[in-house]
Amino acid sequence: MRLKELGSTAIKLPEISLGTWKYHAGPEPLRYGIRLGANFIDTAEIYRTENIVGEALTGIRDKVFLATKVSGDHLRYDDVLAAADRSLKLLKTNSIDLYQIHWPNPDVPIRETMRAMEELVDSGKVKYIGVSNFDVHEMEEAQSCLKKNQIASNQVIYNLSERGIEREIIPYCERHKITILAYSPLAQGELANPANLGSRDRTDAFTKVSDATGKTAAQIALNWCLTKPIVMAIVKAANENHVKDDCEVSDWRLSPEHVDTLNKAFKP
Ligand SMILES: NC(=O)c1ccc[n+]([C@@H]2O[C@H](COP(=O)([O-])OP(=O)(O)OC[C@H]3O[C@@H](n4cnc5c(N)ncnc54)[C@H](OP(=O)(O)O)[C@@H]3O)[C@@H](O)[C@H]2O)c1
Repeated sequence: MRLKELGSTAIKLPEISLGTWKYHAGPEPLRYGIRLGANFIDTAEIYRTENIVGEALTGIRDKVFLATKVSGDHLRYDDVLAAADRSLKLLKTNSIDLYQIHWPNPDVPIRETMRAMEELVDSGKVKYIGVSNFDVHEMEEAQSCLKKNQIASNQVIYNLSERGIEREIIPYCERHKITILAYSPLAQGELANPANLGSRDRTDAFTKVSDATGKTAAQIALNWCLTKPIVMAIVKAANENHVKDDCEVSDWRLSPEHVDTLNKAFKP
């Protein structure tokens, strides 16, 4: 598994991590993914999967980078601190590696939220601060409210069909060394079944690249996300065959010609 640096933290993380939204399997698929090198798990208080993640981490907490999120409805100072304590309890750990603001909330001054985030870092309950679903202006504002910390990552939707972040968010994050954690990299499974995409061009592009590389559609779609150095992908897989497929995405790269074929078929 190739590693990429998280923001400017100097921490190296696997470029494929394990998502847990709508994850209804037990701890074993997560533990299997960790054994295959994806020792980075993403959850959130609203997913109601923090308890399963906590179970999956039993005895191996020190080997895994753990990310969770505070809901955008809990961004008042006291609410952030209380949400973090609830997450720590469910995750059965003393520290969250990456604590992310799940979505921005214009009704709460971001300064108040960031004061709580820095308080969590100071107390050792959180190591790094991240955001999610933030646009460039929201990232700028959030960073300007932090006194001692840098935003390490922005978790945003990114896949072959959803490329809106290429216009402003990716260039901004490249300039400021903020990692993009791409969520829904398979468009919630849609890209794993190109025959169902409803476009002859797109199906043909996948077939061409798949025939040349011997990789599955899911592997091609995931690998496409990883071709940008600043991007890491969070994929959810409850099926262990899928977990294996996804963890084998990192030791090779699509050629520039194959990237071009896919880009042409998925022109934004
Ligand atoms: N920050 C946010 O607002 C936000 C929003 C959405 C998601 N996320 C995060 O991003 C993670 C991933 O996104 P997602 O859950 O929306 O969707 P996704 O990862 O794009 O797709 C998940 C679907 O793809 C299937 N799949 C996975 N690997 C496969 C493979 N190798 N071959 C065929 N099918 C495969 C899974 O099936 P099985 O489960 O049956 O294996 C599942 O149905 C989430 O779990 C969550 O952690 C964050």
